[in-house]
Formats: sequence, structure tokens, C-alpha cells
Amino acid sequence: MRQTELNRQAGIEVPLICGAMYPCSNPELVAAVSAAGGIGIVQPISLTYVHGHEYREGLRYIRRLTSKPIGMNALIEQSSRVYRERMTRWVEVSLEEGVRFFVTSLGNPRWVVDRVSRAGGIVYHDVTERKWALKARDGGVHGLIAVNSRAGGHAGPKTPRELYDELHDLGLPLVCAGGIGEPAAFRAVLDMGYAGAQLGTRFIATTECNAADDYKRAIVEASEGDIVLTERLTGVPVAVINNAYVQQLGTKSGPVARWMLRHRRTKHWMRTIYALRSVRRLKKSLHAAEGGADYWQAGKSVSQIHGIEPAGQVVREFAAAIAD
Ligand SMILES: Cc1cc2nc3c(=O)[nH]c(=O)nc-3n(C[C@H](O)[C@H](O)[C@H](O)COP(=O)(O)O)c2cc1C
Repeated sequence: MRQTELNRQAGIEVPLICGAMYPCSNPELVAAVSAAGGIGIVQPISLTYVHGHEYREGLRYIRRLTSKPIGMNALIEQSSRVYRERMTRWVEVSLEEGVRFFVTSLGNPRWVVDRVSRAGGIVYHDVTERKWALKARDGGVHGLIAVNSRAGGHAGPKTPRELYDELHDLGLPLVCAGGIGEPAAFRAVLDMGYAGAQLGTRFIATTECNAADDYKRAIVEASEGDIVLTERLTGVPVAVINNAYVQQLGTKSGPVARWMLRHRRTKHWMRTIYALRSVRRLKKSLHAAEGGADYWQAGKSVSQIHGIEPAGQVVREFAAAIAD
């Protein structure tokens, strides 16, 4: 099998990451991807608030399911002191429990890099364009996750090719995130020069993910044109399936929210209000009542996803595509 810098740094067999997903990263999914040779990333708010584990106990539960490496996602936007303290604590507990691979998103990753490097760990940072990549490089990260315009969650503005071309001279391994739902697409990005891929949507349509069956089926049935960006969830565009629920609510923020987001002094409050609201809203959406539509986050890779499979089987099929 093809080996890349990501394999070496993360200590894994297949250069494939199951990206952090709020609210979809349940511990069984994270463990299944790692057990099969990829690496599952823990989303701490999912683990604690959605799936009901105390953080350390949740990590130990995953460790009982697999002894292979797992990763942790640190969202490091400076929103509040309480949140920053909690994230610092989660990083510490992760290190104590043996986690050595970290994915940071938003903000400046330097404090995570400093702490994790001292413990011999690795930090990759999510970026959507070169200016954030330069900041992350200056912060000392070991690799970059290039989030493109096809991604689930908060997508970026650029295609996988554009991002590769504008980031590959930085001397850091690049992981492609967005739009990869089938083995051939995985192989294609590795052929382009990426050191690996981070997938989200593909891993929701698995037996281990405990999202509602209607949500998983909607992913299998959706095509690319069914993915729209809504601002109503977090104030910035998030990719969701354009179901009856989304159509009913529309995809634009209301006028008050828009006004608050435009102004420097009120922007911060509005972001906090959105963050709290969306955390509650999305927790509910994970288990929407059978037959009812809700906010179902998914990226354009839906067009390549044709069935609900065990996560380990997905990893093995992807691995087979790069067995040169
Ligand atoms: C439901 C959902 C929730 C996500 N939540 C997070 C998150 O909490 N933190 C994060 O860094 N990325 C998050 N992402 C992004 C994924 O980690 C990954 O980069 C992305 O899904 C890749 O695109 P794909 O869905 O086309 O495979 C989320 C994606 C989805 C689909």
C-alpha cells in the first residue's frame, strides 16, 4: 500500500481520516475507522454533550474498542474564556490518555502545537486558503487539512486542485477534505500529490454512525444538486441536504442577525448566540423522528455514496484503491 507522510506521522496504515463531526462523531464510529487502519477523530462536544460521556471516560471507552491511534479535534476560536479553558483541559486529558494526533480548526493553533509537540504529538490544521495556511505554518503545525468547496460542514471557496496548487510549496503534508465518497476519488487526490484524505459525509452513511436512519438514507439518495449552503445554522454557510425542512426555513439569516454579523462590536455576540443555538439544534437533528426531515449536514460527496456500509469496510475499500 502507498505510504505517505500522514501514515508516518499519525502511525496509521491507511492515509484516511474520519474527520471530526458535530454531532455525528459517536465513539463507535471513531473506533471502527481506527480499528480498520485509518484514523477516527474525536469531536469533544459530540463525545460529551451529544453522546453523554464524561470526556476521559469516553476516550477510555474508545480505547477499549480499539488500541489503534485515534485523533482529537480542537476548535480553537477565541470565543470565551470558559470555552478556551475547557478546550485546554480536553487537550490535556487527550494527551494523558495517549492521543498523539490533533486536528485544529479556526484561530491560531500555536498553543496546541507547543503543548502537543512537547508530548511528541502531531498537529494538522484545517485551512480553506493560503493566508490561513501561512498563519498555521508560522504556528508550527506538522500538516494541513485543505478543506475545499465540496466539503460537508463549513466548506471553503476553492477546488481540490486550486488548493493543492496554492499550498504545496509550503513544505507541509496536505490532506484533502471534501467531496470524497468513493475509492476512485481517494486515489485521484493521492495521485494529485495529497498525503491523505479526510472524509465526513461518507462515514455518516455507515452502520456504526448512530445518526437517524432517515438521515443516512437521505445521504445515499441525494445527488450533488441537493446540497445547499445555509447561513441559518451558524451564521456562516454550512452544507446541508435541501430537504423540506430547509426549504421551509430558507437558507439566509434573518435581517437582525445579518446586521449584527456585519458590525464589529455585535458580530462576536451574534456568533456566540449562533454557536449555542446550533449546538442544541444539531444535537436534536441527529435523531429526528422517523419520517421527519431536519438539518442534515452533508457535502457534495453524496453523489458517490450508494449504500450504508460498516465503516471498516469503507476503509478497506479505500485502502484497496491505493494498493499499488
Ligand atoms: C455533519 C458534519 C459535521 C462536521 N463537524 C465538524 C466539526 O465539528 N469540526 C470540524 O473540524 N469539522 C467538521 N466537519 C468537517 C469534516 O471533519 C470533514 O472535513 C468534511 O466532512 C469533509 O468533507 P466530506 O463531508 O465531503 O467528506 C463536519 C462535517 C460534517 C459532514
